[in-house]
Amino acid sequence: MQDVTTLGFIQLLGKYGAPDLLFTEYFRVHGNSTLEKHIVDSILYHETDKPIFAQLIGESIPDLERTVGTIFERELPVTGIDLNMGCPAPKVYKKNVGGGLLRDPAKIEDIFKCLKGAVQTFFTVKMRIGFESDQHFHEILDLINTYQVELLSLHARTVKGGYKSEVQYEYIKEAAKIANCPVLANGNITSYISSEKVIEGTQCRGVMIGRSCIRNPWIFRQIQEHLTGKSIFAPTFKDVRGYIEDLYQLSNKSNQEERFRINYLKKFLNFIGISIDNEGQFLYQARRCKTKGDLDIICDQYLIKDGNAEKIYPIEPISGLVARPNCEIKNTCSL
Ligand SMILES: Cc1cc2nc3c(=O)[nH]c(=O)nc-3n(C[C@H](O)[C@H](O)[C@H](O)COP(=O)(O)O)c2cc1C
Repeated sequence: MQDVTTLGFIQLLGKYGAPDLLFTEYFRVHGNSTLEKHIVDSILYHETDKPIFAQLIGESIPDLERTVGTIFERELPVTGIDLNMGCPAPKVYKKNVGGGLLRDPAKIEDIFKCLKGAVQTFFTVKMRIGFESDQHFHEILDLINTYQVELLSLHARTVKGGYKSEVQYEYIKEAAKIANCPVLANGNITSYISSEKVIEGTQCRGVMIGRSCIRNPWIFRQIQEHLTGKSIFAPTFKDVRGYIEDLYQLSNKSNQEERFRINYLKKFLNFIGISIDNEGQFLYQARRCKTKGDLDIICDQYLIKDGNAEKIYPIEPISGLVARPNCEIKNTCSL
């Protein structure tokens, strides 16, 4: 996730329980593009021991080929290359990249042909079910088979559906039936419980989790514990308080001014806050803090004081609370 799965955040996931596979933020690919250093660093230094896929967003065949070439020339330790065909930001899809590609199966075919030839390891795809509708869904699945895509992560919404429309898991079931490669289900998988439900209901191979690992960085560990019949770790509010402090420390590395660090932290608190109190008072108050001192007071009040420290952090978000202003942490999709 752009601006979320930075090197520091991936390292935090390593501490709390990393997923089996990792995907980088996307490298922008165009005429003047070079590999963004911070993404390269996330590949080189995440130290989770988990396979990591480099995600690319772009549509220019020569530039995609050049970028893949550079990744392999530099011997970046990626397990594969993942093509982004899902980003719904208008700034992105208007350039016919990300989710915009889903309108043009002929272009997708050209890109698949190029990437299949250029990628020396696994070539994988992340996509939605379509742009405005499922018009090209089956055609694109056929291309996935023809070009032997090796893993498909399917966010079961249209591009126009953004992050809030109903997730249509029946398309994941269909993809799992038709695609020759493993399919990962994506979209609103919020806990080990919904993960199990979706895997059983769709017969997909696994799940991809986005926003819920911001809210609950223990989610991957909980899924693994559930799948292997172990007792499931139940973080307390005190653990969440520690996680918030870890997030704050991530912004330390760039010697940012306090107000930038607070804004950075608030973006994460937007997600964490939807599992803290039913009335959304933590969220309301945290959003209004101007200093770290103010935020510490609110965090201690809700997460530590008056016996709160030992409370169990809910495994699901509290219904009715939303991570405002919207799901995108920052619109940096400036390809
Ligand atoms: C802040 C943010 C940044 C994202 N950046 C990317 C990205 O770079 N590449 C990508 O494939 N998906 C990206 N996504 C989409 C997620 O990978 C995922 O498909 C979507 O959030 C739905 O899954 P979820 O309900 O588990 O969050 C992003 C989502 C968010 C909220």
